[in-house]
Amino acid sequence: MPFFDPLESTFYGHCVERLLTSKDLAPLLADGIVELGPGTARPVVEALRRSGSRVPITGYELDADSARIASRATARAKLGNYTVIQGDFFAATDKPGARQHGDPADRRKAGVVNLPVGGAAVRRARCAIGNPPYLPAIARPVGASQLWGGHDGAHVARRVLAQEMDVVLLMIASISDPVGLVRHARAAGYRIADWSVRPIPFGRYSHQPWVSRRIGELARSGRAFFGPEGYLLAGVTWVRGGAPTGATGATGATGATGEPDAPDDAATVLRRILTAAGSATSLDETAGVGRTAGARRRVRIASGLHEVPHRPASRLSGSG
Ligand SMILES: C[S@@+](CC[C@H](N)C(=O)[O-])C[C@H]1O[C@@H](n2cnc3c(N)ncnc32)[C@H](O)[C@@H]1O
Repeated sequence: MPFFDPLESTFYGHCVERLLTSKDLAPLLADGIVELGPGTARPVVEALRRSGSRVPITGYELDADSARIASRATARAKLGNYTVIQGDFFAATDKPGARQHGDPADRRKAGVVNLPVGGAAVRRARCAIGNPPYLPAIARPVGASQLWGGHDGAHVARRVLAQEMDVVLLMIASISDPVGLVRHARAAGYRIADWSVRPIPFGRYSHQPWVSRRIGELARSGRAFFGPEGYLLAGVTWVRGGAPTGATGATGATGATGEPDAPDDAATVLRRILTAAGSATSLDETAGVGRTAGARRRVRIASGLHEVPHRPASRLSGSG
């Protein structure tokens, strides 16, 4: 079933817009962007409209219904630089010899096409974006299989980070081992260039027994953070240290990110924020709280734009 959540999807669209309007990162986006799971395509269509960006974006959507809806939406929008293809993002972006995601039988059942590679546009792209599946569960949750993020909810995000793109924008959730994921990105040579955070009330997918049980287990082991109002969702843009130093603007900024031991202050701040989402250990504690329209109206977005090293000054910006 196509995924569109008015809060979450709209927030994702705003994070994409922030990326598309970043002057520092523009040189790294010029060769195109590849997207994991456009869903209805509305978030990126809106981001492209608002930003006026002409950067080519290719979205890979696993779910056939979503891909159909998304293709119609991109055609209607007449943007000309956003294409949605039905298929597995990883089949298009995996380096030859990389491990396939999930069980081959599941992949066949899901109708996943093993595209040998994406088109030339995808091969050139140095930036990946997505609001990846992040529901943690030990087994693929019935009725929400396309939203399954593995045992800790961060599996798909980690796999995107393994694609060796120079820039990666991903939505990460405080219920899906956010600390482990931020550390993982750092160990993979990424440094945070920008982030935004907003609260999200729990929805019907998180309340599925397999998912809520797993969220509770992760919370008790210090890998999920939430409270009565729900959890926090962050849109995080990482830049890889190994980006070629010859490129312009942001590249100078990425030069020093190759130093593996250099502290990443933005990562420290983000970890603090995400772990402050709450200390509940069971979704039952939060039942019925924070899901009202009033709670939705009160939400704020916090964000920070971090200069990557070798830029003249740091700045923080945001509305919350
Ligand atoms: C959380 S939804 C996000 C949808 C949309 N981006 C949004 O924010 O409204 C995740 C989407 O990723 C898709 N998806 C999951 N794994 C995928 C994969 N390996 N390749 C392509 N799409 C995938 C799902 O079908 C789903 O539409």
